[in-house]
Amino acid sequence: MKKILIGFYILVIIGIIVCISNSNIFTKKNSQAIVAGEKVYNKNCLVCHGAAGKGEGKKAGTALNNQNFLNSVTDKNLYNYIKYGREGTGMPAYGPRLSENELKNLVVYIRNWQTEDIQFKVPETITGNPAYGKKLYHLYCQNCHMEAGAGMLRMGTALSHPQYLKFTTDEQIWISIAYGREETRMGPSLKGLDGVRQLKKQDITDIVMYIRSLEEKK
Ligand code: HEC
Ligand code: HEC
Repeated sequence: MKKILIGFYILVIIGIIVCISNSNIFTKKNSQAIVAGEKVYNKNCLVCHGAAGKGEGKKAGTALNNQNFLNSVTDKNLYNYIKYGREGTGMPAYGPRLSENELKNLVVYIRNWQTEDIQFKVPETITGNPAYGKKLYHLYCQNCHMEAGAGMLRMGTALSHPQYLKFTTDEQIWISIAYGREETRMGPSLKGLDGVRQLKKQDITDIVMYIRSLEEKK
């Protein structure tokens, strides 16, 4: 009888160990980084990007807690966007202000907002006619993103900004234009999606070519 009891206790203890090791505390080694990242975020970013990360801060900031955005950028993108900022747009460069660890924790915290896994359909090659893209840009984009992609706070981001273009691929620009950012002023542009623009795939590609052409002039 005693032996059976001891055996039972051992089983219970093994059970508890298995449960704990499978729980978030140990498997989610990110959880510490998330907590640390939240502190850095609340102190430095909340004022513009908002407590919920929807761009609802007191000062102008974009929506980071946005599934289309999160699904279109890598952790490395986020890291670079934060580290190098976008001088002259309201987005400071945090490289000189935060430690490596703080930057990495911020990325983990922001990534933790991603709840959906979205597969975007992007053309295999992005090449086209930037002059035609410029025409379309003037028609459909300039009223928010301004002349030559200069950007304007609360209206549209700075698309010709060297730090944006340096750390963003043509495919990623294409995705932002085609699919937009849900619950922001940036609606989708791709034909068939629920947007006002209804542009063809090649139209979007031509606009990407135009935006990319603004890079060399900087
Ligand atoms: C009604 C205003 C408006 C119009 C029109 C508009 N945009 Fe935007 N766009 C925005 C805003 C606002 C954002 C930032 C959204 C956010 O993340 O909070 C944005 C984001 C973007 C981004 C992502 C930039 C980044 O910094 O990550 C790209 C690329 C873009 N827009 C391109 C375009 C193009 C090209 C067009 C025209 C086909 C266009 N937009 C039309 C307002 C607009
Ligand atoms: C003073 C306001 C302000 C503060 C503070 C601020 N940002 Fe920004 N942030 C912006 C604006 C404005 C943009 C868009 C700039 C543009 O391209 O026109 C931006 C862009 C970004 C982007 C790129 C988003 C995109 O759509 O491409 C990321 C990521 C970001 N900020 C993260 C952060 C983080 C993390 C912090 C805190 C460490 C922070 N920001 C602090 C205003 C701010």
